[in-house]
Amino acid sequence: MIAKRFVVLAAAATVQSAAVDRRQASSSVPQYFQTTPEVFAGPTPTGPAPFLAETNPAPFASTSYIPNTPLETQVPIADTPPGGNIFQLHGQLSHYFPNPDGFGVNEFALPPGANITWLNMLSRHGSRYPTTGSGTPTFGSKVQNATGKFNATGELSFLNTWNYTLGKGAEILVPVGKQELFDSGVLHYYQYGHLYNNNGSKIIARSTTQDRMTKSAEYFLAGFFGLQWTQNATLELIIEQNGFNNSLAGYYQCNNSNTNVSATGNTALAQWAAVYLANATARLAPLAPGLNLNVTDVYNMQSTCAYETVGLGYSEFCDLFTYEEWEGYEYSVDINFAGNNAFQSPTGRGVGIGYVQEVLARLKNHLITSPTAQVNVTLDGMPSTFPLNQSLYFDFSHDTNIMSILTAFGFTQFAPVLPATHMVPHDLIVSHLEPFGARLDIELIEAPAPVAADRSNASGVYLEGPPTTYIHFILNQRTLPLYKSFPACGTRDDGWCEVGTFLDIQESSLDLSQYEYACFGNYSAVPYGEITDGVPL
Ligand SMILES: *[C@@H]1O[C@H](CO)[C@@H](O)[C@H](O)[C@H]1NC(C)=O
Ligand SMILES: *[C@@H]1O[C@H](CO)[C@@H](O)[C@H](O)[C@H]1NC(C)=O
Ligand SMILES: *[C@@H]1O[C@H](CO)[C@@H](O)[C@H](O)[C@H]1NC(C)=O
Ligand SMILES: *[C@@H]1O[C@H](CO)[C@@H](O)[C@H](O)[C@H]1NC(C)=O
Ligand SMILES: *[C@@H]1O[C@H](CO)[C@@H](O)[C@H](O)[C@H]1NC(C)=O
Ligand SMILES: *[C@@H]1O[C@H](CO)[C@@H](O)[C@H](O)[C@H]1NC(C)=O
Ligand SMILES: *[C@@H]1O[C@H](CO)[C@@H](O)[C@H](O)[C@H]1NC(C)=O
Ligand SMILES: *[C@@H]1O[C@H](CO)[C@@H](O)[C@H](O)[C@H]1NC(C)=O
Ligand SMILES: *[C@@H]1O[C@H](CO)[C@@H](O)[C@H](O)[C@H]1NC(C)=O
Ligand SMILES: *[C@@H]1O[C@H](CO)[C@@H](O)[C@H](O)[C@H]1NC(C)=O
Ligand SMILES: *[C@@H]1O[C@H](CO)[C@@H](O)[C@H](O)[C@H]1NC(C)=O
Ligand SMILES: *[C@@H]1O[C@H](CO)[C@@H](O)[C@H](O)[C@H]1NC(C)=O
Repeated sequence: MIAKRFVVLAAAATVQSAAVDRRQASSSVPQYFQTTPEVFAGPTPTGPAPFLAETNPAPFASTSYIPNTPLETQVPIADTPPGGNIFQLHGQLSHYFPNPDGFGVNEFALPPGANITWLNMLSRHGSRYPTTGSGTPTFGSKVQNATGKFNATGELSFLNTWNYTLGKGAEILVPVGKQELFDSGVLHYYQYGHLYNNNGSKIIARSTTQDRMTKSAEYFLAGFFGLQWTQNATLELIIEQNGFNNSLAGYYQCNNSNTNVSATGNTALAQWAAVYLANATARLAPLAPGLNLNVTDVYNMQSTCAYETVGLGYSEFCDLFTYEEWEGYEYSVDINFAGNNAFQSPTGRGVGIGYVQEVLARLKNHLITSPTAQVNVTLDGMPSTFPLNQSLYFDFSHDTNIMSILTAFGFTQFAPVLPATHMVPHDLIVSHLEPFGARLDIELIEAPAPVAADRSNASGVYLEGPPTTYIHFILNQRTLPLYKSFPACGTRDDGWCEVGTFLDIQESSLDLSQYEYACFGNYSAVPYGEITDGVPL
C-alpha cells in the first residue's frame, strides 16, 4: 500500500504545472495537504448527464405549472397531509432541508452584550450517486437483466423502457450535492463570517481523501470565502481507507462496527419493510409478473426514487407510493441507523468517540499526543495539522459517522428503542439529522452575566453573576436542547449549557464508549433493541 502511494506521489510532480490553478498541488506538500491529484479517492465514475427538460412530466394533472428548482419535487401523492413532502421522508438520501420541526426547543436571538466567539462545524458531504453494491444498483441490474422478459402494465408500464442509468456513476457528488455544500458555505459565511480573522493567516479545514469528501469541502469553502478560498484556508485530507486512523470515518478503526454485531439495524429494517410495504408489494408485483417483485425490490424502488431525484432531477418511482408508505420508508432508515450506528449498536459510541475527543481537545486547548480511539495522533499532535488558535473549525464527515458522534457525545434524546413492528413518535428522524449536506454547528457564546434559563422575559435576560460562557449545539439549523440529554445542564428554554458543566459531563465520554472492547472485543450479536446505550451489553 505504501509503495503504491509513492508511485502516485511521484506522478504528482509531472502534472504539477497543469494543476497550478488548483488547490495545494505539488509533490513538495505533505500527503495530508495534497488535494490533487487525489489519493484514496474511492470510486469515482461519473454518472449520466441528466436531461430533465425531456424527462420532466410537469405540469402534473390538475396543478398549474411550477418551475423545478432545480429538482422536480412536486409529484402529486394522494394522501399528502398539508405541509407534507415525500422528498423530506427519504432518510439519509434526502436532499438538504433545514429540520422543519426542531428538536424540542425554540430558537432565541443572542441577548444584547453576548458574543459568539467560536464555531466548530461538522458537515456531511452532499447528494451523491448510489453506493456500490447497494439496493438501488441491485434493483437496476435486476430490471436490466429481465429486459424483454417481462411486460409491465399500469403504473409500472414505464419499466418497459426504463434504463438504470445511475449505475454508470458511483458515490461521487451529483450536481445538486455540490450546490448543497456551496449553499452551506454561503449560509455559514452569513452566520459566522465575522469569526474569520482576516489577517493574512489561513485556517485549516479537515476532510478525508474520498473524492466526494474532498469536493464537498472545496465547494463549501468556495461558498464561504469565494473561488480564491485557497488564500484563506488550507484543506487537510485524512486518509479514508482500511488500516488508517480517521475520526471523520471512525468505522475504519473500529473493526466490530463492520461485522454483524453492529448490523441489527439491517435485521430491524427488513422486519419493518415486510410490514409497511406489504400493501405496496401486493399492489405492484402483479403489474410486472415476469419481474417477481418482492418486498426487497419494492424497498429498493423507494431508494431509487431518492437517488434518481438527486441524480437526474426527476424519478418515475416516487409517485408509486402513498404518503404513508413514504413515512414507512423514513422510519425504516431511522431504525436502521439506530441499530447500526447509534444507541442500539454496540459500536454506536465507539465509532464516534475519536471526533468527540478532538472537539474536547479544541475546547480545552490541547493537542492529542497519545493513542485516543481512532484519532490519527501524528496529525493531531502537530499544531500545523491540529491548530488550536482558530475561532472557526470546519470538518467534513459521513452520515453514519455523525450519527455515531452524536451517540458518543451522549445525545440520549435519540436513544429510545424504536419498534420494528410499528411506527411510534420519535426524535431520531434521519432526514432531520443526516440529510445530504447536514451540518452540526457547535457555538461558544460569551455572555457578560449568567443568562436566565427562562427566556420569556426579554428585559430580564441576565441574572446577577459573573461573565458566563455557554455551548450551543445546532443541527441543520435547529437547536439540540442539551438538557434533554444532559440533565446536569439544567432545563433551559434556549437549550444551551454552561461550558464548564458540559466539559465535566464529557470527562467520562471516552470511558463510556468502551472503545477498545466495543470496537475490537470478542462478543456476540444480540437481537435488535436489547442494546440501549451504544455499547456492548
Ligand atoms: C444481472 O446479470 C449479471 C450478469 O449475468 C449478474 O452478474 C447480476 O448478478 C444480475 N443481477 C441480478 C440483480 O440478478
Ligand atoms: C410482451 O408483449 C409483446 C406485445 O404484446 C409480446 O410480443 C411479447 O411476447 C411479450 N413479452 C413477454 C415476455 O410476455
Ligand atoms: C438501455 O440502454 C442500453 C444501452 O444504452 C440499450 O442498449 C437498451 O436498449 C436500453 N434499454 C431500454 C429498456 O431502454
Ligand atoms: C491571525 O489571527 C490568528 C487568530 O487570532 C492568530 O492565531 C494569528 O497569529 C494571526 N496572524 C497574524 C499574521 O497576525
Ligand atoms: C481571503 O484572503 C484574501 C487574501 O488575504 C483576502 O483578500 C480576502 O478578503 C479573504 N477573504 C475573506 C472572505 O475574508
Ligand atoms: C496518520 O496520518 C498520516 C498523514 O496522513 C499518515 O501518513 C499515517 O499513515 C496515518 N496513520 C494512521 C495510523 O492512520
Ligand atoms: C482490524 O481489521 C483489520 C483489517 O481487517 C486487521 O488488519 C486488524 O488486525 C484488525 N484489528 C484488530 C485489533 O483486530
Ligand atoms: C454473526 O456472524 C458470526 C460469524 O460469522 C456467526 O457465527 C453468527 O451466527 C452471526 N450472528 C448473527 C446474529 O447473524
Ligand atoms: C395497507 O392497507 C390497509 C387496508 O387498506 C390500510 O389500512 C393500511 O393503512 C395500509 N398500510 C399502508 C402502509 O399503506
Ligand atoms: C427478494 O428477491 C431477491 C432476489 O431477487 C432476494 O435476494 C431477496 O432476499 C428477496 N427478498 C425477500 C424479502 O424475500
Ligand atoms: C491509531 O489508533 C490506534 C487505536 O487507538 C492506536 O493504537 C494507534 O496508536 C493510532 N495510530 C496513530 C498514528 O494515531
Ligand atoms: C463582545 O464583543 C464586543 C465587541 O468586540 C466587546 O466590546 C464585548 O466586551 C464582548 N462581550 C463579551 C461578553 O465578551
